[in-house]
Amino acid sequence: MDQTLFFILIALCSVSECVQRQYHFINEVKNWTEAQRYCREKYSDLATVDNMNDMNELNKSVNDRSVQFVWIGLQKTGRDEWRWSSGEPALYLNWATGQPDGRDDCALMANGKFEDLPCSDNRHFICNNTNTGLVFVNQTMNWRDAQSYCRQNHIDLVSVRNQNENQQVQQFISDRHLSGSHVWIGLFRVRDSWQWSDQSDSSFRYWYTGEPNNYGRGEDCTSVELNAQGRWHDSPCNFQYPFVCHEDKLIVVKENLTWSEALRYCRQNHVDLVSVHSEEIQRRVMNVVKRASTAAVWLGLHNYCIMNMWLWVSGEMVCYHNWAPGNGTTPENCSLENRKGAVQSGGDQRWISLPESHKLNFICSRY
Ligand SMILES: *[C@@H]1O[C@H](CO)[C@@H](O)[C@H](O)[C@H]1NC(C)=O
Ligand SMILES: *[C@@H]1O[C@H](CO)[C@@H](O)[C@H](O)[C@H]1NC(C)=O
Ligand SMILES: *[C@@H]1O[C@H](CO)[C@@H](O)[C@H](O)[C@H]1NC(C)=O
Ligand SMILES: *[C@@H]1O[C@H](CO)[C@@H](O)[C@H](O)[C@H]1NC(C)=O
Ligand SMILES: *[C@@H]1O[C@H](CO)[C@@H](O)[C@H](O)[C@H]1NC(C)=O
Repeated sequence: MDQTLFFILIALCSVSECVQRQYHFINEVKNWTEAQRYCREKYSDLATVDNMNDMNELNKSVNDRSVQFVWIGLQKTGRDEWRWSSGEPALYLNWATGQPDGRDDCALMANGKFEDLPCSDNRHFICNNTNTGLVFVNQTMNWRDAQSYCRQNHIDLVSVRNQNENQQVQQFISDRHLSGSHVWIGLFRVRDSWQWSDQSDSSFRYWYTGEPNNYGRGEDCTSVELNAQGRWHDSPCNFQYPFVCHEDKLIVVKENLTWSEALRYCRQNHVDLVSVHSEEIQRRVMNVVKRASTAAVWLGLHNYCIMNMWLWVSGEMVCYHNWAPGNGTTPENCSLENRKGAVQSGGDQRWISLPESHKLNFICSRY
């Protein structure tokens, strides 16, 4: 390759794309559900936050310094969910009065009733063994270690799934003169069952220290505290706060078109077929592509056959890439049908090369 051309290509590749989700601050107070409805009508959804960069953008979008809290699109999917160590959902929950207090994630039995406690507390515990039944372990351990111990030496920490088992375990404890003592049972709370309103699987969280605490119960929605560097709180969904919507810059079009038809559609209705210049855009693509109805979805990626090069419709070279093995690298036969790039909508969402006549859903960008 000519050295000048080589340097030009390097230069093209080092252009870093700065992609941000567009945030819109709405300075009207609404409860969380009304805010969600508003955002879905006017923009894409209540704000999703993927990383610290998004968080800074979101903070900046709130241009009224007197605002203290705003809603974002993170909501608890269910009530506190308690499960048995065996994986079964806990339907029988024989809590002592005032329990659980909402702060702790592991449970013990005391005087025949359940109490929640920090999992790091060291307690005696009861395992279940197929042959011998209940086993009292006369050592104190934290809940996780107790669980491992039971799984290694017996089956698991004991389950107490109904009144009958409750009596059995209570009797077992009092037979050993352990009445009143607190022993771990196999009950624990599944946390962070939080979900974004737009179904994105962003795992980014920016909770304020000690949050989410479900203080006062029913704190199932997420607010951002602007005077605390934008740290998050769980808040009752019926609180009235202003809110932040986001506008997705990527749109999955659920029509089955050839690549050229898709390109035309995007250029007429939006801006272009999407060019995936970076891992960040790939992440956004992965989030939206789940909504597609075809197994692969067109990207703005085409093969410049004579030079055996893949290019984005935006004219840029393919620097960042995410090809499936065997795709995107093999030399193409230029007398065969032109090949274009698509992303798999399921699995590990890699790029594949397909003949341009395939009819697929596609992603337009509004950048
Ligand atoms: C547990 O161990 C201690 C110390 O070895 C002993 O005094 C106690 O009786 C044991 N308790 C049970 C229930 O086995
Ligand atoms: C004990 O383990 C057995 C075998 O897995 C299971 O069938 C039984 O329900 C368990 N009982 C309790 C009380 O955990
Ligand atoms: C597009 O193709 C997929 C898969 O063959 C099919 O499930 C879907 O209904 C088609 N969509 C339209 C709008 O024809
Ligand atoms: C491209 O990737 C797909 C999915 O992994 C695979 O089925 C196909 O064989 C690959 N194409 C080539 C030419 O290796
Ligand atoms: C390319 O495809 C054409 C048409 O199928 C075929 O005649 C030719 O041999 C192929 N060339 C190579 C290098 O595979």
